[in-house]
Amino acid sequence: MSTVGFEHALQAIEHVEGWLSEDQARRLFERAAAVRPGGTIVEIGSFQGRSTIVLALGAPPGTVVVAIDPHAGGDRGPQEIAADAARGDADHAAFTANLRAAGVSDRVRHVRLPSARALGSVAAPIDLLYVDGAHRLGPALDDITRYGALIAPGGTMLIHDAFSSIGVTLAIGVRLLGSARFSYAGRSRSLAEYRRAPGRLPAAERAAGAANQLAQLPWFARNISIKLAIAAGRPNLARALGHRPGDRWPY
Ligand SMILES: C[S@@+](CC[C@H](N)C(=O)[O-])C[C@H]1O[C@@H](n2cnc3c(N)ncnc32)[C@H](O)[C@@H]1O
Repeated sequence: MSTVGFEHALQAIEHVEGWLSEDQARRLFERAAAVRPGGTIVEIGSFQGRSTIVLALGAPPGTVVVAIDPHAGGDRGPQEIAADAARGDADHAAFTANLRAAGVSDRVRHVRLPSARALGSVAAPIDLLYVDGAHRLGPALDDITRYGALIAPGGTMLIHDAFSSIGVTLAIGVRLLGSARFSYAGRSRSLAEYRRAPGRLPAAERAAGAANQLAQLPWFARNISIKLAIAAGRPNLARALGHRPGDRWPY
């Protein structure tokens, strides 16, 4: 159980830049609140702390969030793939200040490394994993595979941009679509939730899970179409496809 309510968390992130809608924040908050006291929460991709703060405020007392982000300015958002040290340092400064302002600095342990080099900083088993780091196929697949393998039976994996980024969606297709270990548990916009099964899932459940995930493909197609319309400088088309004015990209 968390010590504050969701409304408090929502207020705390009101002015924190990032990629997390209200319904997605609620899912993060509730899953963090369900973690056993002293359990392990790991976040890959913290940016300026928006999701980190929600996880830290949702978590029960005594539970530390391990936040992995190299803050190198690369793989930061759509069209921001190349590293940029000044941009990364600015993100790091904003992250530190935002956590302090939200009063959660002592509930977060930041590991300033790319996830591929941070595995040794995580104590398994993981109770809750939030994946929102580099969205290209290689690193996304690596995060889901290597960190996913550390999740405790009954534990949860949340994946941002699950159905709005080609790299992440392909990684899900490769690793989770027919998985015998993870069952699909729904989504908030493009934040998908998976639950680690206690044992191997029976074939029928795997097939049903795969069908459930494949049913999200129209939503994925919509998001990719909106991205293409934005990239082509066609805001009216993006709006017609359902893009919310004010959002930079669909997520
Ligand atoms: C989309 S942003 C995360 C948004 C954040 N979760 C929020 O709530 O606003 C992606 C983040 O992943 C980080 N990142 C890039 N490559 C990474 C890697 N190899 N391992 C971990 N994080 C990485 C970037 O520095 C960036 O801050």
